Amino acid sequence: MSMEMAEVANPAIMAENRESLERIQEEARALEHPEPAPRIDEEAGRGPRVVRPLGRPKIRVQDLNFWYGPTHVLKHVSMDIAANRVTALIGPSGCGKSTLLRCLNRMNELIPTSRLEGQILIDGTDIYRNADPVMVRRRIGMVFQKPNPFPKSIYQNVIWGAQINGYTGDRDELVEHCLRQAALWDEVKDRIEDHAYGLSGGQQQRLCIARALAVKPDVILMDEPASALDPIATSKLEETIIDLKERYTIVIVTHNMQQASRISDATAFFYLGELIEMNETIELFTRPANPQTEDYITGRFG
Ligand SMILES: Nc1ncnc2c1ncn2[C@@H]1O[C@H](COP(=O)(O)OP(=O)(O)OP(=O)(O)O)[C@@H](O)[C@H]1O
Ligand SMILES: [Mg+2]
Repeated sequence: MSMEMAEVANPAIMAENRESLERIQEEARALEHPEPAPRIDEEAGRGPRVVRPLGRPKIRVQDLNFWYGPTHVLKHVSMDIAANRVTALIGPSGCGKSTLLRCLNRMNELIPTSRLEGQILIDGTDIYRNADPVMVRRRIGMVFQKPNPFPKSIYQNVIWGAQINGYTGDRDELVEHCLRQAALWDEVKDRIEDHAYGLSGGQQQRLCIARALAVKPDVILMDEPASALDPIATSKLEETIIDLKERYTIVIVTHNMQQASRISDATAFFYLGELIEMNETIELFTRPANPQTEDYITGRFG
């Protein structure tokens, strides 16, 4: 009698084997691909619905909780952010979008009373337990709501971060390369030594992107980068963002629903510190699963 037949003859052993095999497979899957653990309140049919985005996850947020002093501002957030895509974070004011963004590059820990629980993995590395915060901030660049160039020349703004990191390559080349990537080169190439404050708001914002790119990050976080810009500058910035995703992973906070639908591949909707729904942008905007998402994107609240 072969082994196989012996097993067939003993259903109890077979069931046990199958069960342990399943457990091993489950554990292996969990190691490779920890579930984002959506908590779906089936009875009400309106619980969080988190659909894992397409593509390789660059960033994995796992059961993230965050407090400022006693205030619990991010609650059990689990989500994946795919590499080389644009992920938009949306939701009403105060729901925790900027806080989440700052958790992704360890900027929040500079706030004395803050506390974080859970994990954030970037390329599989836990950035709070196994990485140096300075390295994390270098790999994960940030562009803020208000353009904040340094009071220096355009050239000095771009080279600054690379310089303090001991960049030894060709500086002119790096400056040109970053300004081209930020779609600013053609507008400033003849006045590269001019003061950055002489640029328009939209140009200053693209300069800040060029400055962020110069330290060679692989993720760029943008917190409402177009909110201070006019429609022309905004559309230029949006084109830049779409071009940048070929090389970078981009996470953008925006209050502008049209902007989210124009430039992002995946969208995450937050409400009162909870991730309510995440999906491919087109799905989330055309078929929101949660009534709160629908109310928000159609402008009924927020
Ligand atoms: N440094 C801080 N200290 C204490 N509380 C803070 C701090 N920063 C933010 N908060 C609080 O945390 C909550 C989330 O704020 P956060 O700035 O992340 O919201 P947001 O979604 O970015 O809002 P907005 O759309 O207005 O920018 C808010 O209640 C806010 O008041
Ligand atoms: Mg904010």
